[in-house]
Amino acid sequence: MDAIRHHSFGPPEVLTLEQIPDPVPGPGEVLVDAVAHGVHLLDTSIRRGEAGPPLPLPSLPTVPGREIAGTVAEVGPGVDASWTGRRVAAHLGAVPDGGGYARRVVVAAEKLHAIPDGPDGAPLDPADAIAMIGTGRMAVYTLDIAAVTAADVVVVTGAAGGLGPLFVQEALRSGARVVALAGGAAKLKILQDLVPDALPDVSPDAPIDAPTDTLPATSTDTLSGSDRLTLVDYSEPGWLDTARAALGPSPATLVFDGVGGELGTAATSLMDAALLNTTPPDKTLSDATAQDATVLDMAGSRLVAYGWASGAPNRYTSWAGADRIESPIEVRYAVGPDAPPMPDQRPYQERALAQAASGRWRVATHRVPFAEAARAHRELEERRTTGKVVLV
Ligand SMILES: NC(=O)c1ccc[n+]([C@@H]2O[C@H](COP(=O)([O-])OP(=O)(O)OC[C@H]3O[C@@H](n4cnc5c(N)ncnc54)[C@H](OP(=O)(O)O)[C@@H]3O)[C@@H](O)[C@H]2O)c1
Repeated sequence: MDAIRHHSFGPPEVLTLEQIPDPVPGPGEVLVDAVAHGVHLLDTSIRRGEAGPPLPLPSLPTVPGREIAGTVAEVGPGVDASWTGRRVAAHLGAVPDGGGYARRVVVAAEKLHAIPDGPDGAPLDPADAIAMIGTGRMAVYTLDIAAVTAADVVVVTGAAGGLGPLFVQEALRSGARVVALAGGAAKLKILQDLVPDALPDVSPDAPIDAPTDTLPATSTDTLSGSDRLTLVDYSEPGWLDTARAALGPSPATLVFDGVGGELGTAATSLMDAALLNTTPPDKTLSDATAQDATVLDMAGSRLVAYGWASGAPNRYTSWAGADRIESPIEVRYAVGPDAPPMPDQRPYQERALAQAASGRWRVATHRVPFAEAARAHRELEERRTTGKVVLV
């Protein structure tokens, strides 16, 4: 069968298409003919040979990947034969050498999810299903931690990545105002197209006062049917001022940050009312470091931290160690050393699949032909993807 393997750690080119023997399902297992394979930023770190939590490095050679969708080709001893021929998706587990970048994959039957029908009555696309099985489940889990309400003013970093669009859609559906931050107009356009046509009325006490007519030119406009979303290209100079203009006098109350570093830190400063309202007109927020705000006014605000795609921590989190900015904001960790242990993930997978099946979440995928796994990794590392990256 076809599989993507690497025999050494290194650049994307170490990923090569090879022929390896078909696996055979043992007791309690099934063999899946896979047609969609999830790709993670974490896969790129492992490929480079960067050990660290949450996964150790695999022994080599290895077949990366932990998420697959396809059709059950064969069942092993003790498995209900009615699985044969069914469309399924599965997460192979928190292991570094998951074996997911392979066209035939053995999976424990208990990990299978039957792919549900989508909003049009046809089975959910396997790539969309696989986006829900790992990334979607993380979105559900993180949204539970965040507890978005209609009164929230939400900022999302990396809003056009795998997780970001799900946070944006769900926050809008909850009635919150949302400032979505991503790098580049093309990404923002795709994000805009994902936003639900029909959004709920917002409760009268929600702080909907975005001065959209004052937005600088670097911001795309708000969406039809909703004045609650502002898209900001944070690869543009002055983006922080654009975001501040979108917020108006009210600071953000909730930041979703999976990027960390300077971008995550700057985005979090949008929760600082003191900084928002006192920065002199001749000094842009981009100039003012969050440290300049001697009186931080962030009580009641929460930062939900679920990653550091930039490679550096958000300085409002304890990941930053000694360099941490002390503030009264509540940091809620979904991942990382200060996060609570992850509960059983299966219910979160089921809820994520249900979100896509009902059409409540529109799923964005960046699809790359299976044989071009190296390209998928390179594009992910170079921030040239939008949505969940899937090998097909
Ligand atoms: N997906 C999951 O299941 C999962 C689970 C646990 C934790 N996480 C963490 O959550 C974060 C987001 O995950 P995701 O699946 O949405 O990732 P993703 O699809 O790779 O998106 C991450 C986004 O971060 C931004 N970014 C900023 N600096 C970057 C850099 N140096 N390299 C790559 N991307 C960079 C990119 O958007 P811009 O170019 O627009 O800034 C990119 O779209 C990551 O830190 C990830 O480790 C994800």
